[in-house]
Amino acid sequence: MTTVDRSRIKMLIEREEERYIAERPKSRALFERARASLLGGVPMSWMVEWPGSFPVFVKEAKGARLTDVDGHTYVDLCLGDSGSLTGHSPTATAEAIAKQVYKGMTLMLPTEDHIWVGEELARRFGLPFWQIYTTATDANRFAIRMARRITKRNLVLVFDGCYHGSVDEALVSVKDGEKMVLRHAIVGPLPNPASRVIQFNDLDALEKALSPRDIACVLCEPAMTNAGIIFPEPGYHEALREMTRRFGTLLIIDETHTISSGPGGLTRIWNLEPDLFTIGKPIAGGLPAAALGLSQEVAEELLAGPPLGLGVGGTLSGNALQAVAIRATLENVLTQSAYERMIPITERLANGIDKIIKDADLPWHVNRLGCRAEYRFCRIPPRNGAESEAVFDGDLDRLVHVFCANRGVLITPFHSMVLVSPATTVEDVDLHNKVFGEFVNELVE
Ligand SMILES: Cc1ncc(COP(=O)(O)O)c(C=O)c1O
Repeated sequence: MTTVDRSRIKMLIEREEERYIAERPKSRALFERARASLLGGVPMSWMVEWPGSFPVFVKEAKGARLTDVDGHTYVDLCLGDSGSLTGHSPTATAEAIAKQVYKGMTLMLPTEDHIWVGEELARRFGLPFWQIYTTATDANRFAIRMARRITKRNLVLVFDGCYHGSVDEALVSVKDGEKMVLRHAIVGPLPNPASRVIQFNDLDALEKALSPRDIACVLCEPAMTNAGIIFPEPGYHEALREMTRRFGTLLIIDETHTISSGPGGLTRIWNLEPDLFTIGKPIAGGLPAAALGLSQEVAEELLAGPPLGLGVGGTLSGNALQAVAIRATLENVLTQSAYERMIPITERLANGIDKIIKDADLPWHVNRLGCRAEYRFCRIPPRNGAESEAVFDGDLDRLVHVFCANRGVLITPFHSMVLVSPATTVEDVDLHNKVFGEFVNELVE
């Protein structure tokens, strides 16, 4: 098996970062100017985590292409880390938004489009009742509140390596086997998150965590995506559902990323039966919107109690613009036929990466979840968050991002993850694979 020379990685990072800076004088100047008014030079802190010492500043983006202020056009396989899985500004969504913009945006009243959205979400995911919020973080926070109200319990069970937005209860991880600690990147101390955290794919740990009957809800993705793509082992979901029911805990499934698997997410593909369901990011084609689904039983419990009000929702949530944007996106963009094109293109991409890895005899692998693929610099796919963290290779990650950017391909920062949108073509993914092949050649030459 080929081993990669660490000093070569360092040398290549230096070379590629110099090239990145030299070829982007306008982005660099804008970043310098931005530092005087935007904290850290960016409007949202994650944006400094792109490769190179500054992010590219964008002139425009459409479909699977993004052009920066220096005139470089990229094949964008990051797609706003799923927020634009639809491709940038899909025409049907953009036109629907443009029309509604002149007819009222935030009304704090429902429209007929909201009903269409509720009916379509019920058809896709199987839960009968829906609420519309602004971000997936919101949807998860409110789902937790509802679960606490119904169960009269406080604790939330999450999996090590998860991410569900800036939800306090999920910003925890496991240390030294069992100890719960706060995630290292958090801003300031959290007020004792009411959580329990275990490793994914460990049924004994799950039973031990649930059996005291003090957990209000499990908040999980059906397959993990934020520690690389980690699939549940056979029987895991059946056991999770059986145990949550046995111990009186509600199950919240977050499909914000796993919607890459198909139009009804893994919930549909695997016939999952969540009590609450959350989704955000691409459902409105890039406009901020999210949805929370509720089972019949959960809805009945909530409607039987005092009205939901303070603590759930917000004045801008469920607005008229979100309704038309979700409707246009689900009706015309993230359709069954779009997935039928996106998934084979992603298969081609993943098969190409797999071949390059195997031909070079590198101890790496690639995983795929529908139209999402991720390569990891380890031979065996991790089974849980701890295994994933143990194999993280920051230098290789940094290098592949900047190497790709210099050759016209954007991949998602924080992961070596690529997404295929309805606008992404075979030529786009072939360009990615050509660049990935060059990256491997340079490393192992
Ligand atoms: C699985 C999952 N759920 C929820 C969120 C939160 O989404 P947002 O930041 O749009 O609120 C994320 C963000 O990456 C996520 O990965």
